Amino acid sequence: MKKKTNRIIFSSYFLIVICLFSCVNTNVSSSQTFTKSLKSHFENKFFIGAAINESTILGKDDKSYQIVNNQFNSITPENSLKWMYIQPKPNQFDFNTADQYVQMGLDNGMYIIGHALVWHAQLAEFMQETKNKNEFRSHVENHINRLVKRYKGKIDAWDVVNEAFEEDGKLRNSIFYKNMGENYIEEVFKLAEKLDPEADLIYNDYNLYKPKKRNAVIEMVKQFKANGTKISGVGVQAHWGLNYPTIDEIEQIIYDFHIAGVSVSFTELDISVLPNPWELVGAEVNQNFSKFEGDPKMNPYPDNLPNEVALKLANRYYDIFRLFVKHSDKIERVTFWGVTDKYSWLNDWPIKGRINYPLLYDRSYKSKEAYRKVLQVKTN
Ligand code: XIL
Repeated sequence: MKKKTNRIIFSSYFLIVICLFSCVNTNVSSSQTFTKSLKSHFENKFFIGAAINESTILGKDDKSYQIVNNQFNSITPENSLKWMYIQPKPNQFDFNTADQYVQMGLDNGMYIIGHALVWHAQLAEFMQETKNKNEFRSHVENHINRLVKRYKGKIDAWDVVNEAFEEDGKLRNSIFYKNMGENYIEEVFKLAEKLDPEADLIYNDYNLYKPKKRNAVIEMVKQFKANGTKISGVGVQAHWGLNYPTIDEIEQIIYDFHIAGVSVSFTELDISVLPNPWELVGAEVNQNFSKFEGDPKMNPYPDNLPNEVALKLANRYYDIFRLFVKHSDKIERVTFWGVTDKYSWLNDWPIKGRINYPLLYDRSYKSKEAYRKVLQVKTN
């Protein structure tokens, strides 16, 4: 929270300096100078972030880079810090993209997220093949050591563990659980704290609007607190639809985690406008629905989004942000999972090759009606 205030004061100062400069520089029109942005609109409420892909980080997609820089004050690496990319072979690290990611955040005064240290998906193959439990544990410790030390004081918040619970509230029978036992989550949180005591430490998951799963996370938070183990916040992924979860359900998430004594961040917000395969469970990335590929019923808007649906999306975002502002004292950050519809992961998940429209920017990098509606949400 302290860092948040500092950053906001810094960015306000920066804005004033820019304004002063623009006032004497007659070439800059007033509309350019005072253009609204998401980050200025929600200033003092919560960080507003975007997950960014490798092209944006490496400067190959300048339009996305500009949007991120102008509109957002927090970034998350969509893939670049995941185990399979950063440590593909035992003790062989490739920090190139991750370093540039962190530098981008530092250059632009952003709240920088590390996603994710421990996750069963997008893991390196060698971890699947490591059968010896001691060896497995030392790979995990080495991984966390190398990443957290390297970015100490630079990465502001780590998703320490991602998606460790099942829908019924049981611990997921993941490779980490099998090799390290039921205390592995607390163990890695403790390690992360030791390596960077200042960093915010987050537990991140999907479907937390479902009470059984949420209660399991709340129990974990209580246990950490009773043991004096640091946990700063819970990340609610927020891969949602036009009709689910309800605003009441989202509000309950905010209340419950607030009462449990942790901040809430909405870490992966996007709203799918496409039909879901009925068996779909949350955002588990390994689910396979290839039988629906090419089925026009599952891809109803291949050319453009009908106005009526675009409006539904805009109103849905409006309602969600109204709720976020109402509870901004309990919310640390709201991050969109992507920048433009063009590169959203939801074009390929859960069914490959669809055209989805889940974000605030369209395929030609133009802001959508949903963007304008979000900026209409009153903040005082
Ligand atoms: C997704 C990325 O967006 C895709 O590019 C990748 O192919 C799969 O992972 N939950 C998470 C994110 O925590 O890391 C996932 O990101 C989406 C679901």
